[in-house]
Amino acid sequence: MNILAIDTSCDETSVAVTNGRRILSNELFSQIAIHKEWGGVVPNLAKRAHEERIDTVIESALKKAKVTMDDIDVYAVTQGPGLAIALGVGIAKAKELAHKHRKKLIAVNHMEGHIYSCFAQDTSGRPDIPYSFPYLVLLVSGGHTELVLFSDHLTYEKVGATRDDAIGEALDKAARLIIDRNAYPGGPLIEKLAQKGDPSWFSFPRPMEKSDTLDFSYSGLKTALLYKIQEMSDSEKKAHQADLAASFQEAAFGALIMQLKRAMQKYNVQNVIVGGGVVANAYLRNKISKVVYDSRGTVEYPKFKGLSGDNAAMIGIAAHYYAETGRFVENLSELDRNARMSL
Ligand code: KG4
Ligand code: ZN
Repeated sequence: MNILAIDTSCDETSVAVTNGRRILSNELFSQIAIHKEWGGVVPNLAKRAHEERIDTVIESALKKAKVTMDDIDVYAVTQGPGLAIALGVGIAKAKELAHKHRKKLIAVNHMEGHIYSCFAQDTSGRPDIPYSFPYLVLLVSGGHTELVLFSDHLTYEKVGATRDDAIGEALDKAARLIIDRNAYPGGPLIEKLAQKGDPSWFSFPRPMEKSDTLDFSYSGLKTALLYKIQEMSDSEKKAHQADLAASFQEAAFGALIMQLKRAMQKYNVQNVIVGGGVVANAYLRNKISKVVYDSRGTVEYPKFKGLSGDNAAMIGIAAHYYAETGRFVENLSELDRNARMSL
């Protein structure tokens, strides 16, 4: 079954063709250049860019997969969470296609896409990683920091979540303070800068250290960074820019590692999945792998380059499991975006 999947949840217009877990194509038009001068995503610019690009991205996804629209059996689209007016563009297009070609439509939660990105395969079905439920999932993206028990396909229980900023958002804000106002997206810039810095140069408070929940909180850390920068002279800031980035990243990731360890112990689950844009960070992946291997567990990351950040292939793969159990949108006209959709 060939699925054409669309994701317009934020600032990437993405369309993919998938078959089971196999990715036949995964096309993406990134809006980074459009939003960069504003230092963050501007919703109505995102909406307009999605509208302008979506047809071209659909065409190139079909072409890259070497199929035509007639070969598509089912459509899939991100229903939420995300930017409401951006989500709307993909949903309207998916409904239009499903109606026109008389095919079924599947509505997917963007975060479950990030989970299933860890089981993606190339066109020849590699790698063929068997599922080994239950998993503990750590989701780290621009809008989410969550711990989720994944006990079977499409079956989730959220056991921890951020109380304020998400990890990606915290890194993006930190980049604006440490680098400059237009540093966007900040995560990769902080990662690069931190490679030249000393993570123990300054000891930022470790969020949630004293909490007995599995939640996260990043607003206090952001305020601590702001205070630290305000008390530094210009020459000090220049000399220690990389140290600041490395120290901030250390504290931010430290909280993720601490809560992941606690969750693995509490639920006695050693198989871990990590998804979301922030997992592109190699320093974070190394830290997580160490924790998991120390407890003799397994860890799955997004399988290929381009699958950590937002993309439509992960939506198509999740949709495959919906199709297997017959979970299609019953009435096209009733499907609506859900900006705050939860797992
Ligand atoms: O999953 P994603 O692409 O979009 C959302 O669903 O939010 O995540 C975007 C986030 C941004 O905050 C971005 O700064 C962060 O992922 N990010 C990174 C890296 N690449 C992207 N954070 C840390 N290190 C990276 N290499
Ligand atoms: Zn995402």
